Amino acid sequence: MSSQPLIDIARSLVGTGKGLLAIDESNATCDKRFAKLGIPQTMEARRRYRELIITTAGLGQDISGIILYDETIRQQKNDGVSFLDVLSSAGIIAGIKVDTGAKELAGFPGEKITEGLDGLRDRLREYFNMGARFAKWRAVVAIDDRRPSRGCIEANAHALARYAALCQEAGLVPVVEPEVLMDGDHTLERCREVTAECLRAVFDQLHGQRVLLEGMILKPNMVLAGLTCPQQESSTEVALATVKCLLEVVPAAVPGIAFLSGGQSGKLASARLNAMHTRSESMPSPLPWALTFSFGRAIQQPALGIWSGEEMHRGAAQAALLHRAQCNRAARRGEYGVAMELP
Ligand code: 13P
Repeated sequence: MSSQPLIDIARSLVGTGKGLLAIDESNATCDKRFAKLGIPQTMEARRRYRELIITTAGLGQDISGIILYDETIRQQKNDGVSFLDVLSSAGIIAGIKVDTGAKELAGFPGEKITEGLDGLRDRLREYFNMGARFAKWRAVVAIDDRRPSRGCIEANAHALARYAALCQEAGLVPVVEPEVLMDGDHTLERCREVTAECLRAVFDQLHGQRVLLEGMILKPNMVLAGLTCPQQESSTEVALATVKCLLEVVPAAVPGIAFLSGGQSGKLASARLNAMHTRSESMPSPLPWALTFSFGRAIQQPALGIWSGEEMHRGAAQAALLHRAQCNRAARRGEYGVAMELP
């Protein structure tokens, strides 16, 4: 397979000033979020919600690619038009989550390994033939006094690299997502250390598995203090720590870095991304890669709450979704500010 199509897809995803939207929650995760809002946990409710998202008028102005789940990529709108045709008409590239979830890592109590490599080559071929052009695999790494172990970091980095190589063989751009979780009271400095160690391991393995860096996208966490850490740094400090950490470990050949939101509020995620693009003396510039977003919750959350399963709220939910997408696109230019959050 020639590498040029992969390079072109990766550039279209990250090089256009837009970002990615993740709507690839597994059925279990989606149902959990629906349950909190009293929405029925059915395939039809999930289909209606995803239809609401992808039919939001103008979404293609801000979003270059949408990551789908296996159930969703096979679905249609009420009128029978396939979701994939909807995305294609909106100029949005279809992506697909291909891992099968994080399971207990044998021998490492409390740590996880992401599964899904068995049979992956065949699944990737099917998704490519359906029209998907990129894929996602998420590894999770937790922080506490003893974790993460080297064993957990290496096992997950290896799986990410095997996945990425299989994607490129199938013509799909791999989004490589090693997520260092925000849960806990660890400091920003500890998150920086762990993030750097994970990313070093990931790039080592990507190199070992002959992954074309120009044809992939990295989806990391921002470098942040844990959710319950009493000291929470400003957006500028988070942005600076994140960019410095990435500059140390992410090769310049990678075309783009698209952050996950990981449980940050929509506003904070936008403000922190914005701070990475705000020119200041301390912020290194120019950066070798595009820095963008691949948010799930930080774009969807307000819309899901407004919709709450009721069709009469559909328009308002779509407006809220589009607003968060616009805020993040503005953040990519360093043009996001509190004024954008006013009603
Ligand atoms: P969040 O932005 O909600 O963390 O989701 C991004 C994602 O794709 C997680 O795998």
